[in-house]
Parts: sequence; structure tokens; C-alpha cells
Amino acid sequence: MYLRTFNPDDLASVYELACSTLSERYDPNLFTSVSSAWPQGFLVVDGGNGIKAFLLGIMTTSVHARVLMLTVVPELRRHGIGTMLMTKFLEEARRKGAKVLTLEVRRGNVQALEFYSKFNFMLVGEIKGYYNDGEDALQLQLFI
Ligand SMILES: CC(C)(COP(=O)(O)OP(=O)(O)OC[C@H]1O[C@@H](n2cnc3c(N)ncnc32)[C@H](O)[C@@H]1OP(=O)(O)O)[C@@H](O)C(=O)NCCC(=O)NCCS
Repeated sequence: MYLRTFNPDDLASVYELACSTLSERYDPNLFTSVSSAWPQGFLVVDGGNGIKAFLLGIMTTSVHARVLMLTVVPELRRHGIGTMLMTKFLEEARRKGAKVLTLEVRRGNVQALEFYSKFNFMLVGEIKGYYNDGEDALQLQLFI
């Protein structure tokens, strides 16, 4: 299992993982267009027989990075893979000039909130009814 940047051959595997582990539905074209804009911001964990985890991030300004998606297959959670992805992403974002990283997370997503608090993300806002089922988003921010 190793960490690398996304390549277009990963699309089916990444899309399958997104659909099976994330509750929002995304246009498959999003993955390839984000990757071509900033390849180092789209990191995958290759398990040899498919993608086991990925982090998809973008730069919204020259100093502002955003994480759009982060997920690990359920059977490999709590083994440091999310940490490995976030650590590498922070390194790439800093290298790109980012000073701040933001993301949204479901109010009820306790495991993700625990995960982000370990990285010292701060709660900076909320968006009512942000998700397709009406759940609120919490907005988290980290100065990097
Ligand atoms: C959130 C997620 C990416 C974390 O990935 P992971 O590989 O399991 O995380 P790690 O093993 O690196 O965990 C790092 C720390 O985060 C915290 N953490 C992670 N999962 C946790 C859980 N289920 N309960 C409590 N704390 C948790 C712990 O502090 C953990 O450190 P520890 O294991 O030494 O106690 C993973 O749970 C996941 O894919 N969830 C479903 C998708 C999702 O919610 N994505 C985020 C959308 S915003």
C-alpha cells in the first residue's frame, strides 16, 4: 500500500470509494478536472488491488486551500491512513503557498470531528442545511 497522486486510471476505483463511503453524490468529471488543476492536491492510497483511501483538495486562492473529500475504506480505518493523507496534503499545500486550510464536515460526523481536532482545526462557522439530507455543516479552519 502506498501514497501517490491521482492518475486518470484511478477514476473508477476512486468514484466507487466515494459513492460507498461518502453520502454526497459527485459528478465523476469533478475528479479529473480538479486533478488537472492541481495534481499534488489529489492524493490516493493505492492498495495494489484498488484505491483504499483518497484526499481531494483544491486551492481556491493563492493562499487558501480547501479539502473537498477525504475517505478511507471502513476496514482500514484507525490505522493512520487518514493522518498520512492529511500530513502529505498539508505539506503540498504549504509548498504551493497556502496559509490557511478550510473544510466542511457534518455536524454529526463524530469520527471526522475527532480526526480534525487532532490536527488542531478550529470551528469557525456553520452552514444550516448544507448537505443533501438537510444536515448542517460545520466549517473548520487551520492556519498552516
Ligand atoms: C475521518 C477518517 C478519514 C479518518 O481516517 P483514519 O485513517 O481512520 O484516521 P487515523 O487512523 O489517521 O486517525 C487519527 C486520529 O483521528 C481520531 N479518530 C479517527 N477515527 C476516529 C474514531 N472513529 N473515533 C474517535 N477518534 C477517531 C483519533 O484521534 C485518531 O488517533 P488514534 O487512532 O491514535 O486515537 C475516516 O474515519 C473516514 O474515512 N470516515 C468516513 C468518511 C468521512 O467522514 N470523511 C470526512 C468527511 S469531512
